[in-house]
Amino acid sequence: MPISLEAIKEKKITVGIVGLGYVGFPLSLVFAEAGVTVIGFDIDESKISAIAQGQSYIHHINHGRLQRVRAAHKFSATSDYSKIAACQAIIICVPTPLDHHLEPDLRFVVETCESIAPHLQPHTLVSLESTTWPGTTDEVVLPILEREGKVKLNENLYLCFSPEREDPGNKSFGTSNIPKLVGGANAQSLELAVALYGLAIQEVVPLTSMRVAETAKLFENIFRSVNIALVNELKLICEPMGIDVWEVIRASATKPFGFMPFWPGPGLGGHCIPIDPFYLTWKAKEFGVQTRFIELAGEINRSMPRYVVNKVQDCLNHYEKSLKGSRILILGLAYKSDIDDMRESPSLELIKMMLEKGATVEYHDDHIPQIGMTREYSFLTGKKSVPLTSAYDCFVLATKHTYFSAENILSFQVPVIDTRNFLPKNPLVFSA
Ligand SMILES: NC(=O)c1ccc[n+]([C@@H]2O[C@H](COP(=O)([O-])OP(=O)(O)OC[C@H]3O[C@@H](n4cnc5c(N)ncnc54)[C@H](O)[C@@H]3O)[C@@H](O)[C@H]2O)c1
Repeated sequence: MPISLEAIKEKKITVGIVGLGYVGFPLSLVFAEAGVTVIGFDIDESKISAIAQGQSYIHHINHGRLQRVRAAHKFSATSDYSKIAACQAIIICVPTPLDHHLEPDLRFVVETCESIAPHLQPHTLVSLESTTWPGTTDEVVLPILEREGKVKLNENLYLCFSPEREDPGNKSFGTSNIPKLVGGANAQSLELAVALYGLAIQEVVPLTSMRVAETAKLFENIFRSVNIALVNELKLICEPMGIDVWEVIRASATKPFGFMPFWPGPGLGGHCIPIDPFYLTWKAKEFGVQTRFIELAGEINRSMPRYVVNKVQDCLNHYEKSLKGSRILILGLAYKSDIDDMRESPSLELIKMMLEKGATVEYHDDHIPQIGMTREYSFLTGKKSVPLTSAYDCFVLATKHTYFSAENILSFQVPVIDTRNFLPKNPLVFSA
């Protein structure tokens, strides 16, 4: 049955969600919970079998939600792309990383579109949600979908870009109540996409083009990256002046207008903020535009782990020890509080840098009992979280998990480099 406004309104459609990670898995659940039949697609068989067994593999998503939509026969998952033929709407949520030259790597988007194309039925709506440079949906996705000659935009294919704005672990805002931006390739695509997302998401914001939607998502993350770089630089300025940067930011934040607080840290983490800005800088080059502001922010943020390692060395010097041969424990491997996501986490870079300098480095993080596969840090795969003990020369507090207790950390009488302003003033605590 082809997609139509009536079919969407009556929920007589099947939605295919490709890529069942941090974005695609919760999105599948909100559509299924809204009563829409969802087929999830992934190349990772472990995710498919976890879903079949009703086991959520994302820490902050409980098993009960998955089990309820499974019991209602609203959500199944497969690696068999022939089932795309049963879907009237397809939403793509696959990774968009950078390559080794900090350039966009659209491999996953391209492979996904190539897998979908042979099975795509006429009158299907395809939505790209992966964060990417402006123009990707019509310059990269569309030609692959049309390649087989079965579907064509403005005839029997509908296309849109709708960025994902998920903030894993955020207790107030999740997939269903974060406003959803949508840009369509034409008026009909937009109308269908707005109706589709409206089934599961409280507020849908239509935009005039896919390029605006693609750029808006990048701008949101660039805004964060630039502001985080600014407070990281402020920290470097305040430190030699003996000024408490955290108090400065709290003071500025009392202004009821024109200011939004951002906080310094050991560097940027996650799949978005360290990566997405470079999608725009790369595309800007095609137009001869230099993106100095964005690149400077990236430079400052990427230099923060080096600053933290210098602080560890200063602390060890204070105790007449060298980094080489010392035992260091990183507290918190996740890139932010209370989540199990360690992608691009500055803790990984801290471990790498201190191992290179001859230290023995362990980590403690109940949210991440073991380090899985990473693209850049494969030598750490399999490393396990260890308990806090006094057998270390220094702790580095890199993430502020709620379960951490200042009293417990300080009870081991080990000096701590505190990158998050978590611990009270104490001779053992060194701010970084
Ligand atoms: N994680 C976030 O908080 C977040 C927030 C907003 C936007 N995004 C964007 O959403 C996109 C997805 O991010 P994510 O965090 O969900 O990634 P993820 O790595 O958690 O999940 C991606 C999934 O896609 C699967 N996959 C890869 N290639 C595939 C293919 N050819 N066919 C089927 N499945 C395939 C992977 O196995 C994985 O399960 C990215 O573009 C990211 O920038 C992420």
